[in-house]
Amino acid sequence: AYRADEDYDYLFKVVLIGDSGVGKSNLLSRFTKNEFSQQSKSTIGVEFATRSIQVDDKVVKAQIWDTAGQERWLKELRGHTDNNIVIMLVGNKADLRHLRAVPLEKAKAFYVRENIFFMETSALEAMNVEKAFTEVLTQIY
Ligand code: GTP
Ligand code: MG
Repeated sequence: AYRADEDYDYLFKVVLIGDSGVGKSNLLSRFTKNEFSQQSKSTIGVEFATRSIQVDDKVVKAQIWDTAGQERWLKELRGHTDNNIVIMLVGNKADLRHLRAVPLEKAKAFYVRENIFFMETSALEAMNVEKAFTEVLTQIY
């Protein structure tokens, strides 16, 4: 059946936080436009984009906020939100295998301790980007 663009069952807000240069903006553009930029400029302030996906028989619209790299981390996030939020640790640039910055064991210790989801992605190779966002949206839903 035809569904208009604004016809969705759930609207969820997703916020991308992390150090400058880790690839937040490219994760967003890969997921919402299937685009990647080698020379993307550092985000100033906050930008957002949307994309709707189908989960079961429902249309879930994601409003994804892309922050500048200076936003703080997990403690502050938890301090300002309720317990219903879903948090995923994303290790991006997985294509740069020879330059791995965080050992898997270290990432695992962190996501287990914090009880959050985890995925390694590559915005460049479009690896796990779809999967990471879909997982978060499905968990919220
Ligand atoms: P701020 O806006 O400053 O917080 O940075 P950001 O986290 O939004 O990073 P951005 O998406 O602008 O990417 C920074 C640089 O990393 C750019 O040169 C991108 O092309 C590159 N980059 C992003 N994702 C990947 C990836 O998956 N693999 C590789 N090799 N490079 C990537
Ligand atoms: Mg950015």
